[in-house]
Amino acid sequence: MAGALSKSLVSGIVIAAAVAAMVAPTPADHQPSLAEAAGRLGLLVGAAVDPAHFSEPDYAETLAREFNMVEPENVMKWRHIEPARGHFDFGAWDQVVSFAAAHQMKVRGHNLLWPARNPAWVTDGHFTPAELREILHEHIATVAGHYGGKVFAWDVVNEAFDSRGRLRHSVWYDEPGIGLAGRGTAYVEQAFRWAREADPKALLFYNDYAAEGLNAKSDAIYTMVRDFKRCGVPIDGVGLQMHVAVGSPEGISVLTSLDANITRLARLGVQVQITEMDVSLPLPEGQTSEPPADSPEVRQQAGLYGRVAAICAGNPGCTAFQTWGVTDRYSWIPVFTHGKRGSGLLFDNDYRPKPCYQAVLKALMDAWR
Ligand code: XIL
Repeated sequence: MAGALSKSLVSGIVIAAAVAAMVAPTPADHQPSLAEAAGRLGLLVGAAVDPAHFSEPDYAETLAREFNMVEPENVMKWRHIEPARGHFDFGAWDQVVSFAAAHQMKVRGHNLLWPARNPAWVTDGHFTPAELREILHEHIATVAGHYGGKVFAWDVVNEAFDSRGRLRHSVWYDEPGIGLAGRGTAYVEQAFRWAREADPKALLFYNDYAAEGLNAKSDAIYTMVRDFKRCGVPIDGVGLQMHVAVGSPEGISVLTSLDANITRLARLGVQVQITEMDVSLPLPEGQTSEPPADSPEVRQQAGLYGRVAAICAGNPGCTAFQTWGVTDRYSWIPVFTHGKRGSGLLFDNDYRPKPCYQAVLKALMDAWR
């Protein structure tokens, strides 16, 4: 049973790699990569990736040098991996697994069930609850089964709660649902049980956004995890997405109660991972490049990144720190915000490390001392 593992157990491979790196002679002024700095803490440091960019040398080199974990940003979501009923396309995903194997990186799977963004064949198929139950079971069994042993952790269910902590309406829950409509988190439980059956060794996570600090949504997640643990539902972790905007209330709540939220979840016997961090800045119309390093926004961004990295590195309940992409060149934020925000990742459009990169690295190095 994969319960709340210590950081060192979770990332034994990472530590081994870091120790190997540490015995190699290095110049006194050698600045470690994020992967080296995190590895010696037993912490995973990851990035969401798109295998379409693996052929770009800067992308592949930055990823392999700086990170020890990858998660596909999109290619394993339902519409990509099962674009038609019973037709599974694992090609792009297999490239992620191969890249990770070639560079001794762990792979997080994302995701098996998401109330949003399901393919039209699912949402418009007019299926009965019994049929949807079969469709969901087949999807989880096939996808998690295919990657058994290659994916160390799955986001089994993504974003089931709204901001007030109520379950979102969805094809899986109650529109019409898999036969468990109105029965609270029973459909979430069912997904976790099927995931465990399909891959008994992988760590199983619930993942959500805007639930990083203490609030109504994180309370609902906490209550669900507590109930699941009491009833023997196989859940091993909670992913906190951490899409933060400079100047937003979430940024402040992260600073004030992230640590407490991680601690209360860890006490239930689950581990916490920061799964999708980006810290977006407002972008003036038409601008895509980085604001000057001494601007207040850039300093605040670095402060937020550094603080989250420090909290994660310092709390035994937090086992991974991951950003939602490698470089600003391919971040989802400008697309999602119609060009209003961007510049949210650790590397700029030209793969240069930004002040927020230095802040994360410093936090990881300080945690080691
Ligand atoms: C986003 C991707 O980054 C985009 O490229 C895609 O168009 C939409 O999905 N929460 C999640 C992620 O769990 O899967 C989302 O990823 C971002 C928000």
